[in-house]
Amino acid sequence: MNLKERYVAAESRYDDAQNLYLRCGRSGVLLPKVSLGFWHNFGGVDPYERSRAITHYAFDHGITHFDLANNYGPPYGTAEETFGRLMVDDFRPYRDELFISSKAGYDMWPGPYGEWGSRKYLMASLDQSLRRMNLDYVDLFYSHRYDPNTPLEETLQALVDIVRAGKALYVGISSWPLEALKVADRYLRERDVPLLIYQGRLNMLDRAPQEQGILDYCADNGIGFISFSPLAQGLLTDKYLDTIPAGSRMSRETSLPSSRLTPELRDHLRQLNAQAAERGESLAEMALAWVLAQRGITSVLVGASSVEQMECNMKCIYAKPF
Ligand SMILES: NC(=O)c1ccc[n+]([C@@H]2O[C@H](COP(=O)([O-])OP(=O)(O)OC[C@H]3O[C@@H](n4cnc5c(N)ncnc54)[C@H](OP(=O)(O)O)[C@@H]3O)[C@@H](O)[C@H]2O)c1
Repeated sequence: MNLKERYVAAESRYDDAQNLYLRCGRSGVLLPKVSLGFWHNFGGVDPYERSRAITHYAFDHGITHFDLANNYGPPYGTAEETFGRLMVDDFRPYRDELFISSKAGYDMWPGPYGEWGSRKYLMASLDQSLRRMNLDYVDLFYSHRYDPNTPLEETLQALVDIVRAGKALYVGISSWPLEALKVADRYLRERDVPLLIYQGRLNMLDRAPQEQGILDYCADNGIGFISFSPLAQGLLTDKYLDTIPAGSRMSRETSLPSSRLTPELRDHLRQLNAQAAERGESLAEMALAWVLAQRGITSVLVGASSVEQMECNMKCIYAKPF
């Protein structure tokens, strides 16, 4: 699409609302079963028109939830800048139809206040994120990682105060251990800012949140769970069965090193691919449907480097039950 053309969202975007949305824990919020993450493919190094086309496709099909973080890019901050540009170019009229999250926790700027879980860092980071994204508030703000050296109460009180200041509507935590999740749940509930959602990595190759009891705790306590890297960064698709395609995430040797692809893993992926074929599905479709079928799941948070991938991934909504 030419930048000068005005984006008008598809009128049909909520036609399939019955199948698309799930309630997030015991809250008033419905999230799409498939959400779109901005970790890769939306940075300053990526072509804006491609990022824009993926985002349009998603929203045109009812995907209302976009997930960001301060350090997504590369370079850091530029995924939020891309989103800010999309807000200005396309999404301003649709702000109230969107559920936008951001996070702080990983290294963002130099010095002692640019990462982890202090009040100083979280408050400053969210203010920066809002400026980059051209937003007055985010719908959801996360502590991106557990900080063993900051009192949990300091991090949690910062989240409470961020909501009280109107800069976020809801709060979440990502990749916190179970005992810290329990503290967060209690602390936030007592202050009437209940924990909306937990973000963790769950996919057919990595079931840690289930094994650690995190998913059950969320399900039993009315907390939503959104699964990041549900395709194991692309491993759970048909792309690495025979080769490492040029331009793929693994070929770039960034967050998915080629050393991961051992002969044993490739055999396992081929078996899963055969299982998917028996179900009449692609491996990606089956892998996402598997996550959605687990107890306590609200949404799979996928990445996509093309509209075609997004289209393929959304098919999981209609996959056969497990
Ligand atoms: N909280 C956290 O700590 C944390 C950590 C990681 C991620 N996240 C969130 O989770 C989101 C998703 O993570 P992710 O990008 O790792 O998710 P993913 O869905 O497991 O992997 C996405 C990548 O797989 C490939 N792919 C996707 N669909 C495909 C298909 N149908 N066929 C072939 N290849 C396909 C693409 O890579 P190619 O470039 O190879 O095409 C795509 O960028 C992130 O954007 C972020 O919002 C959060």
